[in-house]
Amino acid sequence: MAEDQLSTFVSLCRRRGFLFGGSELYGGLSSIWDYGPLGAKMKKRIKDIWWDEYVEKREDIVGLDSSIIMHEDVFRASGHLEGFNDVLVDCPKCKRRFRIDKIEKFGTNLYRCPDCKTEIDTRQQKPRTFNLMFKTNMSAIEETPVYGYLRPETAQGIFVNFMNVLNTTHKKIPFGIAQIGKAFRNEVTTGSFIFRMKEFEQMEIEYFVRPEEAMSAYEHWVKNRLQFYLEHMGIEESNLRLREHGPDELAHYAKACTDIEFRFPFGWSELEGVAHRADFDLREHGRVSKKDLSYFDSVKEERFVPNVIEPSSGVDRTFFAVLCNAYRKEEVKGRPRVYLKLKDTLAPFRAAVFPLLKKEPQLVELAKNIFYDIKKSMPAVYDDTASIGKLYRRQDEIGTPFCITVDMESLSDRKVTVRDRDSMAQERVEIDRVEEYLSERRK
Ligand code: GAP
Repeated sequence: MAEDQLSTFVSLCRRRGFLFGGSELYGGLSSIWDYGPLGAKMKKRIKDIWWDEYVEKREDIVGLDSSIIMHEDVFRASGHLEGFNDVLVDCPKCKRRFRIDKIEKFGTNLYRCPDCKTEIDTRQQKPRTFNLMFKTNMSAIEETPVYGYLRPETAQGIFVNFMNVLNTTHKKIPFGIAQIGKAFRNEVTTGSFIFRMKEFEQMEIEYFVRPEEAMSAYEHWVKNRLQFYLEHMGIEESNLRLREHGPDELAHYAKACTDIEFRFPFGWSELEGVAHRADFDLREHGRVSKKDLSYFDSVKEERFVPNVIEPSSGVDRTFFAVLCNAYRKEEVKGRPRVYLKLKDTLAPFRAAVFPLLKKEPQLVELAKNIFYDIKKSMPAVYDDTASIGKLYRRQDEIGTPFCITVDMESLSDRKVTVRDRDSMAQERVEIDRVEEYLSERRK
């Protein structure tokens, strides 16, 4: 999808109920989005597939659901209190604030405002450092505040529970802890839709290994996660690539890191980071908490601090990538047709049922009965609020793989018209065979 198509795409997402601006009724909040009825369904599908793949199907990974508000010392140990900062500069004219590393620089001290193009001279407009974490007062008495922090990554909830999980599950290394949950960062962003938000969701695994096995585990996870996007999210190979971080780019905790990048409308950008975090997290939490977070290998009779491999994916970015990848625009009989070529496991509905004429009670009744029947085995929707052409267009735009139309003939021949989203081919199918027909045609 080209960059100029982004605004059309955003308007489709709003119009069809995938996403709404956060607090829109009161003018909105920047970089905060709400998922509408269809968005909520699709987002849940993504999370369920991930959870199923890594927690339910595997023996070596367990799940966790840790709290969002965490103790200040967690972030002292993790390095976020000291180092999780952006350097920002204000435009003297339009007063907007930008990350200095993201705007055009020319000369020694001069930058250009990306919005109003005014020169920003950093000798006058002093850049300031902002910590990206949201701090909150947990005390009931304002005069004696007790601060907690909204986690900027779900990972820290996993590290602080490492011993709890180990002691209650009796897992042996190598094993992993997986978590899906909200994370918060006070990002300064412009126009990236849901790519960079202040409140977002992550799907993270911390996989604990012996130090000498860390590098091969890291390489394994990079391949595993790339395959996940191809196989389970239906993302085309040409829209994905791997990018290894150079030494000067690595986060303070990482020994190696590979980004899985997606070709977003604004260019190649990070979808997921797979990091080799060595023993940084458990070592630092052990040091600051003064608790022993080492692991005893009873076979080798050896005690060590495990290394960690972390595949860290964004739910919202995956959602964004899946939608962009599925977006299709074509010309049909001189008119544009937009459809989402989604996998049926991700599409909000697998089938839509319509009566051709909503004024015919018998048709409506038959269509509703078919709908109630198939809804028992798959997500489906009934609609009779527009003409058939409009109903097809609506379902194309939300990626419904099949539309089932009930017409007058259906009453006598007990057949319906099933229309395929991608080819638009239509076929008459016996009502009793509709479910079987759909399950034979997985997308
Ligand atoms: N625990 C490691 C970690 O949090 P990260 O690269 O900062 O690493 C991991 O974040 C993933 O979380 C990113 O690849 C992205 O998908 C998602 N993510 C990070 N910041 C985000 C934001 N502000 N809005 C939406 N998604 C974000």
